[in-house]
Amino acid sequence: MGRLHILDHPLIQHKLSLMRDIHTGSKEFRELLEEIAMLMAYEVTRDFPLKEIEVETPICKMKTRVLSGRKVGVIPILRAGLGMVDGILNLIPAARVGHIGLYRDPETLEPVEYYCKLPTDAKERDLIVIDPMLATGGSASAAIGFLKKRECSGIKLVCLIAAPEGIKRMEKDHPDVDIFVAAVDDRLNDHGYIVPGLGDAGDRLFGTK
Ligand code: PRP
Ligand code: URA
Repeated sequence: MGRLHILDHPLIQHKLSLMRDIHTGSKEFRELLEEIAMLMAYEVTRDFPLKEIEVETPICKMKTRVLSGRKVGVIPILRAGLGMVDGILNLIPAARVGHIGLYRDPETLEPVEYYCKLPTDAKERDLIVIDPMLATGGSASAAIGFLKKRECSGIKLVCLIAAPEGIKRMEKDHPDVDIFVAAVDDRLNDHGYIVPGLGDAGDRLFGTK
């Protein structure tokens, strides 16, 4: 059964508050998102398995531990997920990156797929799906549905802000997937935006509005 993890580390909360501020410009917004993604990656990888190896220090031989699990794939949901990629790669530099392009139809709020390019060995990797906003949950649910259709497993979802509606949708559609968020906000408004949220993550990240 997947679990909801709320990452309330003070550094994450502080940086998220700066991102929410309407006066924060694109440059700072981008930097903060990357920094938070890196901090979140630290917690998301907490259950990664280790194995014992022997190394020789300048003093003597010793037994020590290194990662032993499956390789990792990072899957940003375009566009806004792109803003989290570098932060995660800072901690997991060997990860491969796969892209899933989805936009939310403004009328129906349903996700529309326009791009999908995954590492060829995606189904042998643990996958970290990233998107700053989990609103209705339609985009994340569809992206994870695509991955499962391609026989992928070991999937985690990492978002900055979630609405209760999005969490509910994920728990219904993908009860096996762990969800990591920095905050759960109050609700969605009539346009499907998270309240209080931070506005349109893609537009603020890329300065398109
Ligand atoms: C935003 C966001 C998520 C989606 C969340 O993307 O980055 O992908 O909305 O909403 P949902 O949970 O209701 O599906 P958007 O569709 O605005 O596309 P963009 O990232 O290209 O701006
Ligand atoms: N997508 C965003 O970028 N922001 C929201 O609040 C909801 C969906």
